[in-house]
Amino acid sequence: MKHLLAIDELGADGIAEIHRLADAFVEVNRRPIPKVPTLRGRTVVSLFFEDSTRTRLSFETAAKRLSADTMTFSVGTSSVKKGESVRDTIETIEAMGIDAIVVRHGSAGVPWQIARWSSAAVINAGDGWHQHPTQALLDTYTALGHLGSLDGRRVAIVGDIKHSRVARSNIAAFTLLGAEVVLVAPRTLLPPDLTDWPVRVVSDLDGVLGDVDVLYLLRMQRERMTESLVPSLREYARRFGLDRERAARLGDGAIVMHPGPMNRGVEIAGDITELPNVVVTEQVANGVAVRMAVLFWLLGADPVPTHEEEPADA
Ligand code: NCD
Repeated sequence: MKHLLAIDELGADGIAEIHRLADAFVEVNRRPIPKVPTLRGRTVVSLFFEDSTRTRLSFETAAKRLSADTMTFSVGTSSVKKGESVRDTIETIEAMGIDAIVVRHGSAGVPWQIARWSSAAVINAGDGWHQHPTQALLDTYTALGHLGSLDGRRVAIVGDIKHSRVARSNIAAFTLLGAEVVLVAPRTLLPPDLTDWPVRVVSDLDGVLGDVDVLYLLRMQRERMTESLVPSLREYARRFGLDRERAARLGDGAIVMHPGPMNRGVEIAGDITELPNVVVTEQVANGVAVRMAVLFWLLGADPVPTHEEEPADA
């Protein structure tokens, strides 16, 4: 069974293959009725042990547009609260007959465990600080849409690298596609050991603004911080936040990305999110097409329909 657990297992060719599939689904999503029968009869379960808005909705929208049946399992209302283990939970939903499990969990490695226990395709929708492969697929897809190629392009990832699975997956994805990645963060928000990371590290945002093609802002993940790592959020915003004045110093064609949810006034000033080179809503829109591509890549047998077809029953 194929799974999608970490971005590097795809390699550059795998990423390009999913991006090619996503192109077809972007087209599907533009239709008046954005739905194809491709995964009719398949069941996709989303299993979220950690909160999420956009990732869960994005996967569910993707599955529905492919006509798959969807089930949502939120920990807050499930027997996990009664102490049911992840393994028992998997056995229970397996018994219902499912084809794919989209899982988010606060601990690194849980999606790999589930892949061992389950006969379904497993998609990692974020595990602890570790990996978030579909985010990296949609981010590189969005960046490619603006820049054409990522070869030799400069990508700055700014902020809370230490706690960020988005950073880890994106460093791998952008590097695989030929970009150079620079991390911009205070020492306290970097992992203690960066040996083997294919990155340059700087602590001055103003020094890189003029020569990046992608400025990728991360959310300050206060829920993962057990200690105080920056003097104050105001101080962080002053040194690492993108405001109008800094945005004006970005080069022509440079884009600003953020995985959401944004802390307005911290990583990004509230009044600049509508600037044309801030592509956050485009990331969200592309996320649906890219997740349709991933589901199709894992579960689809039939070719992607290229013509308008009768929509399946809703
Ligand atoms: C990210 C996540 O949960 O890893 N959000 C997302 O998936 N869009 C990033 C974050 O929460 O900061």
